[in-house]
Amino acid sequence: MEMRYRARRLRGSDTLRRMVRETRLSQDALIYPVFVKTGKNIQEPIASMEGQYRYSVDRLGSLYEQILKTGVRKVLFFGLPEEKDPQGSGAYRQDGIIQSALQYTAAHYPEIFRITDVCMCEYTSHGHCGILSGDQVDNDQTLPYLAKIALSHAEAGAQMLAPSDMMDGRVGVIRHALDSNAYTALPIMAYTVKYSSSFYSPFRAAADSTPAFGDRKTYQMDYHNKKEGIQAALRDIQDGADIVMVKPALAYLDVIQRVAEQVMVPVAAYSVSGEYAMIKAAAQAGYIDEANVVCESTVSIFRAGAQILISYFAREIAGWIAQGRIG
Ligand code: PBG
Repeated sequence: MEMRYRARRLRGSDTLRRMVRETRLSQDALIYPVFVKTGKNIQEPIASMEGQYRYSVDRLGSLYEQILKTGVRKVLFFGLPEEKDPQGSGAYRQDGIIQSALQYTAAHYPEIFRITDVCMCEYTSHGHCGILSGDQVDNDQTLPYLAKIALSHAEAGAQMLAPSDMMDGRVGVIRHALDSNAYTALPIMAYTVKYSSSFYSPFRAAADSTPAFGDRKTYQMDYHNKKEGIQAALRDIQDGADIVMVKPALAYLDVIQRVAEQVMVPVAAYSVSGEYAMIKAAAQAGYIDEANVVCESTVSIFRAGAQILISYFAREIAGWIAQGRIG
């Protein structure tokens, strides 16, 4: 039958399908989160996140060798300190866990790009992302601490900072601290549109950062809202954010799309621990094919408009891009 438009003409072979793909992926866009723990010779499996480990600094090298082989060259550090206190002082110690990981990595694996999570919840005894005043997280009292943490990361060799605390005004305060200390060239990737999400539970078990009481709803975003995220993005950009992030990813593809349409800076998405754990569990039960589902959901995040992806599957994704299976 004569038919001008036949969608199937361009679906006929792998060559054609790959030629007309609208979404292109690159290993350059991938960031792998790494949990670093105080101590020696530790590579400890994380029960809530099968296939992920907590590493002591001296064991990071073997991880780097492995991720570099897959084509991933960027890491986002999370730290598990030896001790916690109400002020989270472990987060800005010169010899703190993140600072040591940064120094080690810069000295031994300069080809690894070093991004740090700037937050307090792994370091505070109460598990909240800021300084408490009574049972409330005090926004303005927290800001100088965040600036201090950011500066200590910069001094230890961070190449990008990712504040995840969700205090108002933190991007401006961090930018100011960096600029006043000759770190004018250090970029900020702000966790701008970060929802108060139940998808973070496996991470909190991994990083030992579950709040001792209450939840994070007074500082993280309500998942009913989208416009609020655009407002936050515009504000963060004005305050000096170079990249804005949406987190989580899969349940928030509409938000990624909207943010990507509205802002003129690069947009990152964080496919979080709960997304990872669900896929792992369903695959293990034999209900889904892990690789196929990760490929499909990863592409959906880029299709929605993300330019950068933080994922616990970064190594695998890089491998599939190299094989031409996606991207
Ligand atoms: C720190 C932080 C969290 C995550 C990233 N940075 C936890 C939280 O906000 O409770 C979650 C990442 C994940 O679930 O993979 N504030």
